[in-house]
Amino acid sequence: MADRSNVVVVGAQWGDEAKGKLVDYLALNATMVVRYGGGNNAGHTVTANGIEYKFHLIPAGILNPDTVCIVSDGVVVDPGVMLKEINGLVARGVSVANLRLSSSAHVILPYHRMLDDLQEAKRGAGKIGTTGRGIGPAYADKAARIGIRLGEFVDPSRFEPRLRAVVAEKNEVFKVYGAEPINADEILAEYSVYASALKPFVADTSLLVYNAASAGTGVIFEGAQGTLLDIDLGTYPFVTSSHPIAGGACIGTGIGPTLIDSVIGVAKGYTTRVGSGVFPTELLDERGDYIRERGHEYGTTTGRPRRCGWLDSVILRYAVRINGLTALSLGHLDVLTGMESVQIGVAYTDADGNLVKDMPADLVNRPEFTPVYETLAGWCEDVSGARTLEELPENAHAYIRRVEELSGVPVVSVSVGPGREQTILVEDRMQSVLQRRPR
Ligand code: IMP
Repeated sequence: MADRSNVVVVGAQWGDEAKGKLVDYLALNATMVVRYGGGNNAGHTVTANGIEYKFHLIPAGILNPDTVCIVSDGVVVDPGVMLKEINGLVARGVSVANLRLSSSAHVILPYHRMLDDLQEAKRGAGKIGTTGRGIGPAYADKAARIGIRLGEFVDPSRFEPRLRAVVAEKNEVFKVYGAEPINADEILAEYSVYASALKPFVADTSLLVYNAASAGTGVIFEGAQGTLLDIDLGTYPFVTSSHPIAGGACIGTGIGPTLIDSVIGVAKGYTTRVGSGVFPTELLDERGDYIRERGHEYGTTTGRPRRCGWLDSVILRYAVRINGLTALSLGHLDVLTGMESVQIGVAYTDADGNLVKDMPADLVNRPEFTPVYETLAGWCEDVSGARTLEELPENAHAYIRRVEELSGVPVVSVSVGPGREQTILVEDRMQSVLQRRPR
């Protein structure tokens, strides 16, 4: 029990890589799952025993009754959404007794959602395509040091004066946008109910995470969004406002990097993106539509159709570099079934025809970069029943081997369908990734 590793699960692309499914599996070997960033802009769908669960804030590990699930300080919490999620789980017989919310996590309040919409409308054609959940404005308040944290939120004597002060300031901002002012009394009436319901869950989670991580009882750090949506290292400004990258697991939970044993990057066998911004391997033809329909590529949170394209190994190598990936988990392989050939972006060419193999820091300003593809033979056999790499059609297996060569990290699991059991686990590799580093 005391030799279990601490593993970060991080999105290697633009989010929606189905990290929840891997977290759900890894949670079987851990005592704690920690969600370290983002808010209810994220959406994880996990199918267990034929039942589909959708999570926006609560870690997918909650389905294991013995797993302690933490929503840590790097997360921004919309209290109404959190409560709805808790109540939904309880109604389906899932215990939330082991759920803890960081007293340092910032709270999303109605003015954040309103500002998100107002700012997007103002951006016009340059809009980011946010989820409209108030994420950016909540993180902005945190950085501006006027945010309200959960610890304050659940203490009525502190919440009311802080809320009144911030609402007064926000109403000045709303004037600039020509928007109606908001009423602090109304917010107080609604949110005090949420506060008292959430109070029993609020704790000093940094200490809980540290104790579990240093005791070697196994902690899974569940990333939200993906590497390319990181506020610093993503395709800025078309990013979210938090740190989805592996380093965010330290900042967002309050533990040091030396406590982390492995970092698994999750990527789809292709690439998707929601919202605006650069996407070199995007497919705007019927092949993109094929992937979208077969992969049900519509947002869990907003229902928006996702932009779809080929796997981009320049991006994968970037994810390896930025996150220190020790392994890859490849998802949605079944979606590619039925395509005559599949392509992988291996580099870009610039305007002068020069080959660019490493992700440029400003990809967002390089619309002239054109992907260079490698074409592999496709497969038409059903892969959804495969449980070992050897059971895959040879062309699908060859595709995985090529992804490993191009990314430079081993694939430890392959998802071949949404079900928990529809997973190929490369046992020996997974075991070595889950080894605790000597300390
Ligand atoms: P925000 O996080 O709502 O501010 O949105 C900023 C950008 O991140 C937009 O392009 C969103 O579509 C994208 N985004 C945020 N959360 C997710 C996610 O969970 N999956 C995929 N894209 C996301």
